[in-house]
Amino acid sequence: MNKPLDLDDMPTNLSANEHFQQVVDRAVSRRGFIVKTGASAATVAFLSAGLTACGGSDDDPLPPAPAPAPEPEPTLGFTAITAYTEDGVSVAAGYTATAFVPWGTPLFSTGPGSTWAGDGSETAADQARQVGDNHDGIHFFPIDGKSSDEGLLVMNHEYSTTSSAGYDTLFGATAAPANTLERVNKAINAWGCSVIHIKRTAGKWNVVLDSQYNRRITSSTPMLLTGPAAGDALLQTSADPTGTIVLGTINNCGNGYTPWGTYLTCEENWNNNFGTTVEPTVDGRTAAQKRYGLVSGSTGYGWEVFHDRFDYKKEANEANRFGWIVEIDPFDPTSTPKKRTALGRIKHENAAYAIAADGRVVVYTGDDQANDYIYKFVSTDKYVAGDMLNNRNLLDSGTLYVGKFNDGAATGDFMGTGEWIPLTTANPALSGRSLAEILVNTRLAGDAVGATKMDRPEWVAVHPKTNEVYVTLTNNSGRTVTDDANPRTANRYGQIIRWREAGNDAAALTFEWDLFVLAGNPTMDQTNPLNKGSANVTAANTFNSPDGLGFDQSGRLWIETDGGYSNTGNYANQGNNQMLAADPVTQEIRRFFAGPKECEVTGLTFTPDSKTLFINVQHPGENGNSHWPEGGTALPRSATVIITKNDGGVIGS
Ligand code: FEO
Ligand code: CA
Ligand code: CA
Ligand code: CA
Repeated sequence: MNKPLDLDDMPTNLSANEHFQQVVDRAVSRRGFIVKTGASAATVAFLSAGLTACGGSDDDPLPPAPAPAPEPEPTLGFTAITAYTEDGVSVAAGYTATAFVPWGTPLFSTGPGSTWAGDGSETAADQARQVGDNHDGIHFFPIDGKSSDEGLLVMNHEYSTTSSAGYDTLFGATAAPANTLERVNKAINAWGCSVIHIKRTAGKWNVVLDSQYNRRITSSTPMLLTGPAAGDALLQTSADPTGTIVLGTINNCGNGYTPWGTYLTCEENWNNNFGTTVEPTVDGRTAAQKRYGLVSGSTGYGWEVFHDRFDYKKEANEANRFGWIVEIDPFDPTSTPKKRTALGRIKHENAAYAIAADGRVVVYTGDDQANDYIYKFVSTDKYVAGDMLNNRNLLDSGTLYVGKFNDGAATGDFMGTGEWIPLTTANPALSGRSLAEILVNTRLAGDAVGATKMDRPEWVAVHPKTNEVYVTLTNNSGRTVTDDANPRTANRYGQIIRWREAGNDAAALTFEWDLFVLAGNPTMDQTNPLNKGSANVTAANTFNSPDGLGFDQSGRLWIETDGGYSNTGNYANQGNNQMLAADPVTQEIRRFFAGPKECEVTGLTFTPDSKTLFINVQHPGENGNSHWPEGGTALPRSATVIITKNDGGVIGS
């Protein structure tokens, strides 16, 4: 989200921990790793940008790049599209992109919400039975575990687009009147998740109306807190003295899924929904509330005005019940979603799983705030394929770690080393804290153990074959102070880094990391040469603010952007937000898709045959300049986009 309410760019991390940029800068400035024996062609290519960027360097010319290794698998088989600035969508030649299940789509043929009026006039009760707003993370669950023609499409609805005057598109107006209880409740029902039964008939995907699986999970749906912090005093409220029963999930951003068939929805900017009417002009927040960015005074959303639980001066612990990863069983419409406290409380972007060498489950997750951290959870017990009784609560017991990215001493063609620091009561740096305290105030634990400050960690993705882990660091434009260690004063373009766990074991406690791409704009006369990006950034693929990220089964890396779309100045020639594909071996990047005006592109999932791709277009026209997908004078609507290859082939091939 790029609206004024989005405070992700403003660090709340006042610890003295080292910033990742300092680590990167030192690594880039070291001549040694450039000519390291065994460096791949890709690494040399990457570094050539670093050298160019250093301008005036007296380094020797680079040696000729070694011949690239033969392609191990099909990679990028499509022709890149040019930057796109219109109010539709653009996709590579030979592909078709079709909008699907936009906000307000009915899930049931009778009763409230069974029609869409087109003007945003639906009530809160209607909205609770329609597809929510601002689509984000998404996953396709085949109905029978293998179908590519029928399944449950589960997705997040992150928030509703607002203006300074209140809600806008949610009510069909660009400058809405003041909030009311009904309007707040409509927003509450527009957020959360949708479970949508879909089926392809004669080549066309449709919603299976009235399916027993169709379900809305909203910001008021009852759910359980489970795991080590459940029931702790920090999670108890006047409405729930047990500290285990919560109403709703908020700001569901990226997602994950598990090999046992459940969906993971990640609570990100929930802090923006907690303010106070008690002390509107006094900042009475605790240190922890400041660290998590609760709002001093009134929020833009106004939920605290109509529901006391969102007022932290009236109900101090309610905010502690948000910021979790929530596990949902989409195949059981009566199941209660579970907030898994063992995975920590942060502003979770997404959740990417891996299976450790011994069978334990690992979940990676980033905390999307300037200068915050990357985490991984390792379960106590092992995953057993097909044993739901064993797997159903695997995420309730394990160890949470936070990442520390060091420079130097990488053994191969990677740039630096790293370690996973346990956030446990046994860690001397956390002595005196209970496990519940560590998990509820995870950021404070990360501060105490010296985790590395990152440039807004967004999506994490695990390569399906190599197990290497990739993460988008979207940008950190708030950086204003220059020094030798921080040459990119305003990291407005972002980067993608990757790491390789020791022994290729996801449960390892050490790793080696590398920069995959430093996004930038080589078409601009950049004051800071590093802003031209690494060598795999060209005039043809220039982009900013990588956010959504995921691999397909063949190992293509798909990158989605949520950044500047002005197509001028620093963002000239980049066009609307987009989706690109990268070859992890050669590091080549090609633009595949671009969305309508003022949107972000986010979320991705494939059918098992890799021939249908579902992505989401979020907040088209967030500044009032889109009518996508209907066009004309229609309200802009967030929607899924279905992409297929016209010859019926695998996406990206
Ligand atoms: Fe909801 Fe960090 O994106
Ligand atoms: Ca967003
Ligand atoms: Ca995002
Ligand atoms: Ca983003």
